[in-house]
Amino acid sequence: NSELIHSYKGVPFPTRVSINQLNSLDAFEAREDDLLLVSYPKSGTHWLVEILKNLYHCTSGQVTIAPPLEFQDPSKICELRNLPGPRVIPTHLPQNMVPRQVRSKDCKVIYVIRNPKDTAVSMFHYYQQNPHLPTVHKWSTFLDLFLKGEVVYGSWIDHLLSWERAETNENTLFVYYESLKKDLPKYVQEISSFLGLSVTEEQAREVAKRSSFREMKERVEREKQRERPDPTNTVCALTSDRKLIFRKGAVGDWKNHFTAEQNATFEALLQDKINSSELASCVDSFLGLS
Ligand code: A3P
Repeated sequence: NSELIHSYKGVPFPTRVSINQLNSLDAFEAREDDLLLVSYPKSGTHWLVEILKNLYHCTSGQVTIAPPLEFQDPSKICELRNLPGPRVIPTHLPQNMVPRQVRSKDCKVIYVIRNPKDTAVSMFHYYQQNPHLPTVHKWSTFLDLFLKGEVVYGSWIDHLLSWERAETNENTLFVYYESLKKDLPKYVQEISSFLGLSVTEEQAREVAKRSSFREMKERVEREKQRERPDPTNTVCALTSDRKLIFRKGAVGDWKNHFTAEQNATFEALLQDKINSSELASCVDSFLGLS
């Protein structure tokens, strides 16, 4: 299965992301009204895209959801050039790999954070289902890989730290998956003001409703007749197939997977770095809340 993953600057990438593309990222021409949607895989990328799409539609009307920055090969960078703005550009890239112009043009960034334990569980299932990723049959084997950062896009905490410590940090809104689960309309409003849009409470509730796990899952199931995934609909470099995304959409599923020992190992290995991160220390489980 090793032909599905290759390494670039020490970070494992799916081979769907070509080395050529990664080397060409600086050719990307950013615009001031671009929004970069950043996440470590399995943190809620598709959810955020849906929220943003619905939010723009009920306010300014116009938005383009672009393919991920690092997807495929350098021809994609030319395609991006022709898309009308404002563009929402998803990416799972660590901060040091982001195209230079994203920094020089002060583009806004939304970074989605999810409890790494739930992220690991979500990624484990995804590895089984996604033909672009190797299959790892045992949870304990997968967890070891996750803790060593030997999964696609590398270490969860290093990814978060790269964005938390970036100079562009002031232009970044950090959003927790768990907060969205708790009170989506409230965070729709927060995202909306960050983007300089304005929504009424009722509109925020409507956006939240249209972006709920159930509605999104049902919509994808209704589209099942179109058996073939639509590559123009790709928002994550790991798949163009939305049917692989909507598994449980829950907070705390890690408790159904981690043994007490695995939980202790997880915290022992990540705790120091987590303590050094203001954002990671706020994840519910580290506050003992979940
Ligand atoms: P689970 O595997 O835990 O169900 P990404 O889009 O970054 O690949 O993240 C996928 C995860 O987000 C999956 O987690 C998926 O179910 C969850 N997700 C997608 N849409 C969601 C929604 N509307 N509400 C809550 N979770 C959602």
